[in-house]
This record gives sequence, structure tokens and C-alpha cells, in this order.
Amino acid sequence: MNVLGIESTAHTIGIGIVSHHGGSVSKKNTKVIANSFDRFASSRNGFIPRQLAEHHAKKFKSVLENALEEANISLREINAVAYSQGPGLGHCLHVGFAAANSLSLLADKKIVPVNHTVAHVVVGNWSCGTTDPLVIYVSGGNTQIAALEGKKPNRHYRVFGETLDVGIGNFLDNVGRELSLSPPDAVGVMKNAAQWKSDELFELPYTVKGMDLAFSGLLTAVKKLAKEKKEKLCYSVQETAFAMLVEAAERCLCHTRKKKVLIVGGVAQNARLQQMLSLMCREQGARFAVVPSQYAGDNGAMIALTGLQMLLTAKNFGGAAPNQNLRIDRTRITW
Ligand code: FE2
Repeated sequence: MNVLGIESTAHTIGIGIVSHHGGSVSKKNTKVIANSFDRFASSRNGFIPRQLAEHHAKKFKSVLENALEEANISLREINAVAYSQGPGLGHCLHVGFAAANSLSLLADKKIVPVNHTVAHVVVGNWSCGTTDPLVIYVSGGNTQIAALEGKKPNRHYRVFGETLDVGIGNFLDNVGRELSLSPPDAVGVMKNAAQWKSDELFELPYTVKGMDLAFSGLLTAVKKLAKEKKEKLCYSVQETAFAMLVEAAERCLCHTRKKKVLIVGGVAQNARLQQMLSLMCREQGARFAVVPSQYAGDNGAMIALTGLQMLLTAKNFGGAAPNQNLRIDRTRITW
């Protein structure tokens, strides 16, 4: 069975294709045969949803052609079309939905609406060989710590901790723009932080409420300190924001008593965050896994993989229309 997945929740238009050869989904019998994408570059103005949606509509055809060429199959050989239903930006979600609808009608195949956050976890578990970990999902728009609850096939992810304001990625992007870094985003913050060769830092607001976090106080403090040495300020932001996340994650780990921790999402690629989390896991006796970088940011392969899991274990998938506010805990995990 071949499943095509369309990702379009934010700055990336991606198409992935997975090929499944029977049995339950694993790295042995399920291969990602294409993972093509085009990403809208960050700028000093941040992301404007209408511009992102125009980009996705314009690039869809070439991304699809690249994916089919990479997989070396035709549209006729696709058995189902999965797409990212949410959460995400409304304009962008509708481009993906319209494309998925058209493809499914054209090829006369089933359409499968996929929860984007669940998909990040599915590709993490598939690539790291983990089952039932404590999940730390860190990306531009999202910061959540969640774990599975309940008995098969009626399990759901429960969110134990999450950001109360912005996602950690968007927070770091904002810092990059406020300080006019190059590039004006999270990458700029990390580059500057790496240049600070001391462990001396500015004392910044540290907001952990139980297992939840908030970043707006940190951002206000950065604005006030904008004239200070950028390298020291970026280092202080990095250490403070990540320490908050690790503290919340440690509390969730002790509460859920999970034996593994899996980090997924675009910010999962951050080496300093990985280092801090792996140290915490070692102290707690838990295994630590990181989603490989090609599947960390938004991608079509994770949507295709999750669509496949759904097709193999459920009969109907509810309404297919996009849902900007779809949360990880709204989706029944049937596999
Ligand atoms: Fe994402």
C-alpha cells in the first residue's frame, strides 16, 4: 500500500509518500519513498499567513512532481491521500485541504485527515523505534509535553504540560527579530549564544507553573536589555528558556513514570536542548530519543505515515475539514 501525505500547516508545503508491505507499521516493513518540500524563508517581518498560503499554492505542483519522481511511482499507484487537518494557520491548511481533495477525486482514492501533532509523534516513534514515550513537542507554534493514556484501541495523548502563551520556536524567532540578528530568527539566537565563551548570564524571568511554561515575560526582558551585548543576551535566553522546558519535562516524567522520552518538532534539532534533556533523562534513568533531523521540521512523510496507521486500524476518521485549533488530545490513537 502506498500513502501520500500533504503537509501545509505553517511555512512548509511538503509531500511525502510511504510504502507499506504488510503487518504493523515499523521501519522494517514501511519505507518513506519520498519526502519533498519547499519552505518559505523567514524574514524580518515574520510570517504573514496569506503570503505563506500563496507560496504553498504556487509550489504545490513542483513539490508533488518531485515527490512522485523520488518515489518512482505514478499517481495511479497511490492508495490514499492523507493531509494535515490541523493545528495550523487557516489560510495554509485550506491550501493543503483543497489539494488533497482534488488529488483524491482525481485518483479516486480515500482522503485521510491527519492530526499534525500526532504525526510528529508517529514519525518520531517510527524512526527511533520507541513505543509509549513521554513526548516533548517543540516547534515554532507549539510547545507541549504529552503521553499516551488509556487502553488500545481507545488511547489518547494527554497533555501534561504546555506553553501558556507562544511556542518556544516563535519565541526564539521573536528574540532574533527584536535583536536584528542574522538570520532574524531562532538560528540567529543560537549562533550568537555559541559565541559567548563564558557561563555568566543575565538573570531573566523564569516562568514555570507546575508543568506549564510561559515565554512572554522573557521576551519583555529581552526588549529591555536589547542594547546589551547580543552574544551574552542570546546565551542567557537559550539557557533560561531551555532550563524551563527541561524542568517541566522532568516533572512530567516523574509524574507519568514513563521509561522513555522522545523529543519531536523543529526545535528538537537544537544541540543544546538535546544535551540538557539527555542529562535530565540519565539522572532519571529514562531512555532519551531524538527524531532524526529530516523528520523534525514539518514534512509530508509524517502525514503519510500517520494516514497509513489510521487506514490500517480505523474505519472512519470523522469530518475531513481543516481545524486550526485541533489539539493532540482530540484524536483517538487506534494503533
Ligand atoms: Fe509541526
